[in-house]
Order: sequence, then structure tokens, then C-alpha cells
Amino acid sequence: MILPLFEKYPTLEKRLPWTSLANWPTPVQKLENLSNAVGYPNIWIKHDDKSSEFYGGNKVRKLEFLLADAQKKGFKWIVTYGGIGTNHGLATTIHAGRLGIKTALVLIRQPLTDHVQENLLLDRHFGAEIHYASSTLVGGFQTAGIYLRHGMVYFVPPGGSSTLGSLGYVNAALELKKQVDAGLLPEPEYIFCALGSKGTMAGLLLGTKLAGMKTKVVGVRVAELWITKPENIFRLANCMVALLRKYDRSVPALKFTMEDVHVTHDFFGGEYGRVTPAGKAAMALMRETEKIKLELTYTAKTVAGMLDFVQRHPELKNSPVLYWHTYNAVDFTNVLLEDHDYTKLPETVQWCFQENLVPCLGAEEDSAGEK
Ligand SMILES: Cc1ncc(COP(=O)(O)O)c(C=O)c1O
Repeated sequence: MILPLFEKYPTLEKRLPWTSLANWPTPVQKLENLSNAVGYPNIWIKHDDKSSEFYGGNKVRKLEFLLADAQKKGFKWIVTYGGIGTNHGLATTIHAGRLGIKTALVLIRQPLTDHVQENLLLDRHFGAEIHYASSTLVGGFQTAGIYLRHGMVYFVPPGGSSTLGSLGYVNAALELKKQVDAGLLPEPEYIFCALGSKGTMAGLLLGTKLAGMKTKVVGVRVAELWITKPENIFRLANCMVALLRKYDRSVPALKFTMEDVHVTHDFFGGEYGRVTPAGKAAMALMRETEKIKLELTYTAKTVAGMLDFVQRHPELKNSPVLYWHTYNAVDFTNVLLEDHDYTKLPETVQWCFQENLVPCLGAEEDSAGEK
């Protein structure tokens, strides 16, 4: 299989590290039932949840570049960061493990949900070395310890959103364009994606432009503003342009500015990982209408943001809107049934199974001053 990015710019194939970890292209589908339920007849989905039978979701596209780079340079260990329920950490652990590379995770606190607990159990099950950082300082010491213990360690930034990793989503947009050209879906007026470590959104921003699409990419912010600053989104897109042009001068010298960045801030909920009523409602609606599984940190908030947008903008006149599904669809119920003894986890994270899970918020708490 040849990546659409390499098909468009063949020189890049020899110059950029990339290894195949998944099944491309991911399917696109019209969400008929959801469209009917909300009275907006043109909602589509890009199923990145189905990218891999090992662990799907958006991280796989980034890891195909990052792990290839680590492998090429001979690294046997990776260190990466996230909240205690990080999907990125789990995806990295699983896919790096497939290549014989081990993963050390440095994790920080986030609101406790059953999803957080499940991911911690799965991290251990798939062989991650787990470190809990109760503060930035502790995280720094732990990182230093990881480097001392394992020697050469490949650094993967939170969410995998380095310039190299984010190219996965430049390619993803070119993949979508091929599906549009093949008549599988109309060119979307808007794409909605979760905005966390920014790589997904920045990659789509650049990829849609390279593909010659008029589509606007809207990021639904799910993390604190210092992580998701709009100026850093277009800067990341510009860094990717520079990287691509370093290897292939036929890549156009695009320059992104604030005007290209569309972010919705209203569904964040005030804290990374906080459960919001709007997110819960979107998660339930998606499950009831389409049997599609969302999670509450990223994808439920994104769907909530998209549905609110189409309902508040009658001038859209039912033009096509695409939800880019970035969560994983592989079901780990059986793994968790067999391997759920939390006392096998490092003592520093066992409190995650001893404290109460977060209570559901009341509707009035959802909208109050949380930007
Ligand atoms: C399910 C899911 N969706 C979306 C995102 C956000 O993507 P990005 O970090 O590229 O902004 C993440 C990041 O971890 C995720 O786990």
C-alpha cells in the first residue's frame, strides 16, 4: 500500500520514516440515524476508530511515523506522557510492543472515570512501565530515571503531536480527498475533530489545503488553553510545511495564520478529562442512533460541539459536515475480565482504584464559566 502523501510527493517516501501499523483507508459513512435524530440530514463520519485490530484511533497515524523513526535509529525504549487515562499512552504501548520496543509512561492526574481505570489496567497488561508524576518536578525526576535506567530512550511528546507525528493527519486528509474523488462522500464543508495535543487538527488543516479542498477544520477544544493555543496550531502546520519542503521542494510553501484556525471552546468543561452533561448526552445519542462508542474526554465533547454547531447555523443549508472519529473501536472486555487485578500496578497509581469515580455533573455546572 502506498500512502496518499507519498503518492502525491514521491520523493518523501525515501526521505521520511514510516512503517505500516494499520489498515488504510479507514471507512467513511453517512450517519443516517444521527442525522434524522437531530434534523440535519448530512452528517458523515471518518472511522479512524477502525484503523487497527490491535488498537485503533487517531494515534496510529502518528505512530506510523514516530515508531518508524525510533526503529530506524535503533531505539529499544520510548518515553511518553499523558493523563492517567491516556489513550495515546496505551496506543503507543501496544503498537511499539508490536515492533519490539518497550514504552515507559509518565502519567499525571486527571478526573477518575472507569475509562481511566481500564486504560491503566491495559497499560500494564500490554507491558508499559508506569510512573505516576504527582507534580511536574516529580515527572522530571522520573524521566531522568527512565533515561538512566534504559540508556537510549526515544522521546514521544504528549499525544504524539511532534512535527513528524502530525504528518499522519496530513496524509489522512489526502486519504479523505481520494474518498471524495471516488464518490464515497461529498466534500465536507466542515470537519470536526477533537483538539488535544493539536496534531490531528494541524495535520488536517495542512492536508486539506494540500488536497485542494475548501473544507474548514474545526477543533473542539478538550484540553487546557496553554496546551491548545490557537497560535500553536497554525505554527505546527507551518513546521510541517517546512519539514515536507526540506525533503521535497514541490510541496507548496503554504503559510498558515490565525485566520485559518477555527476552535470551539464551549465544550471543554473547565478541566481536561472532566465529564460534562453535553458530552454524556452526545455519547448516549451516538450509541442509541448509530451504535458507535465514544469516550468522554475527547470524542463525546467533539460530537456535542458539532451537533450544537449545525443546529445553530441554518445558513449551512444542510451542507455536508464530517465528524472525524478518533477513538479506538477494539473491544478489550475479555482482556479486562481476565486481567483486572489492580494490585499488580505500581503502588503509586493504586489510589485510582481506591477513590470514588467522579460523580456526574449537574447540567447547571456544565456551562458555568468553564472556558
Ligand atoms: C480519542 C482521542 N481523540 C482525540 C485526541 C486528540 O488528538 P490530538 O492530541 O492530536 O489533538 C486524543 C488524544 O489523545 C484521543 O485520545
